[in-house]
Amino acid sequence: MVRIAGTGHYVPAKVLSNNDLEKMVDTNDEWIIQRTGIKNRRIVEDEVTSDLATKAGQKALEAAGMKPEDIDLIILGTSTPDYHIPSCAPIVQHKLGCRMIPAFDINSVCTSFMCGLTTAYSMIASGLYKNCLLIGADTYSKILNWKDRNTCVIFGDGAGAVVLVKDDNAGKLLSTDFGSDGSGSDYIKIPVGGVVNPINNFYGYKEEDLFFQMAGKKVYEFTISVVPEAARRMLRQANLTNETIDHVIVHQANVRIIDTISKMVDIDRKKFIVNIEKYGNTSSASIPIALDEAVRHNIIKKGETVMMLGFGGGLSWGGVVFQW
Ligand code: UT7
Repeated sequence: MVRIAGTGHYVPAKVLSNNDLEKMVDTNDEWIIQRTGIKNRRIVEDEVTSDLATKAGQKALEAAGMKPEDIDLIILGTSTPDYHIPSCAPIVQHKLGCRMIPAFDINSVCTSFMCGLTTAYSMIASGLYKNCLLIGADTYSKILNWKDRNTCVIFGDGAGAVVLVKDDNAGKLLSTDFGSDGSGSDYIKIPVGGVVNPINNFYGYKEEDLFFQMAGKKVYEFTISVVPEAARRMLRQANLTNETIDHVIVHQANVRIIDTISKMVDIDRKKFIVNIEKYGNTSSASIPIALDEAVRHNIIKKGETVMMLGFGGGLSWGGVVFQW
């Protein structure tokens, strides 16, 4: 079995409020709160993704009572790495002062942390590794189109981390549910910069195609069509019910999505851990940040069950039910 020995998170100091955004694009505080539940988000000034990841990782290590040299595997979930090449995890390995251990990125956009969690769990449960630092970190402020009100009001920067360790007496993955639907791959996208539209042809591109784009309504419909069913399957597989599951952490994309999942799966809304009003959508960081806040406030206790469920670009979704 694999226990989460420590959690941590880090968000940049600079707060960007809905009122600040009113001065930048044609939007207003009331629309943003009603349609998304977001009030503030944090934005980097002179930091990059590897800095956020390193700081969250340090906090998780401290919470676990471990040192960088104790870690034998680093997995970083991110879709905003410092560079396309190299991957970002080795930069974090170096900044943390870890040994020359394996360190790699997983990019499943907002589902990255959940993919990382099942990967880390499997690699430890198989006996290959003992102590894994898993981080979800993203810096969307660097890829957003700050002229596009459809996206720039939604995202924030941040990182969350967990230390997973082998433990025969605690920590159990009770169920998982992952899937993807590439027919919706255009709905969350940066059109330019990959090999279809390489950056070396950049004179031919429209400016907005260099930035993050999202067909919000399409993603919303996809989420509502797959995520509640995934939650029900995970409960069944874990031999739990809507009454017996203790906590639910859904990717903090939109408070209306969280409310709808609560209604459709008939899980008491009070069981949902929600912090979207403070940080907005931090992509792969949103679940581990919410998890860390809940653990530090003693909301999640030993033996309790936690459902974590991410979704987003790909399109993709992924969840686990974990016994603490
Ligand atoms: O993290 C990855 C996963 N992402 C998600 O799960 C996101 C899922 N989607 C959503 O959360 C929602 O679709 C959004 C929050 C992105 C948008 O909310 P919506 O209720 O779907 O709005 P909409 O895009 O349908 O726009 C409704 C109206 C439009 O005006 P008209 O055409 O009705 O006149 C938009 O132009 O709201 C307008 N609008 C805005 N108004 C003020 C769009 N953005 C804004 C804005 N401020 N920032």
